[in-house]
Amino acid sequence: MPKAVRLAVLVSGGGSNLEAILTARTSGQLENAEVVLVLSSKAGVYALERAKKYQIETAVVERSAFASDDLFQAAILKKLAQAKVDVVCLAGYLRKLGPSIIQHYRGRILNIHPALLPKFGGPGMYGHFVHEAVLAAGEKESGCSVHVVDEEFDHGPVLSQAKVPVLSGDNAETLAARVLEQEHKLYPKSIREFCEKI
Ligand code: GRF
Repeated sequence: MPKAVRLAVLVSGGGSNLEAILTARTSGQLENAEVVLVLSSKAGVYALERAKKYQIETAVVERSAFASDDLFQAAILKKLAQAKVDVVCLAGYLRKLGPSIIQHYRGRILNIHPALLPKFGGPGMYGHFVHEAVLAAGEKESGCSVHVVDEEFDHGPVLSQAKVPVLSGDNAETLAARVLEQEHKLYPKSIREFCEKI
């Protein structure tokens, strides 16, 4: 069997998508990839606890610790290199990756976004803002998208999507929960399919 693809999962918050990836791995549904590093942009987030539970190496790289964005990006790149990461998966990571990282891992950085891209993506479209915008637009359906990351927010080629209905009476919270349930299925499946091809 070929060697498992080495994944870094980048987080900034709760890490439920991280958990879905780790669960998929332990239950044999993600046999071709392993998480070797969980890197957070913030200390103290629950995603780091989840990683520790699975005995996965963690790193916290906070922007405030660096004098410039270049130094911050270089520190992230160094962590990825030290862990010999093949593919980077953003899972609720709220900072923009700099050009040095995008160039180094061109075509090998994935993200999950809680809407049907290209709609409802771009700067400021994260968390409840996405779901509020979907509701305000009167959309009949929403969902989630896994895409390749490029220099622009939520912009690279979409690899897969899952749809959910928008129900009358939905608020951002109920819609987010319905979408998140699909994210947890879609992301591990998309990562497996992506890793089969590289
Ligand atoms: C998810 O909705 C994901 O689509 C978005 O950020 C959220 C992260 O949630 N990019 P979690 O930290 O994985 O629970």
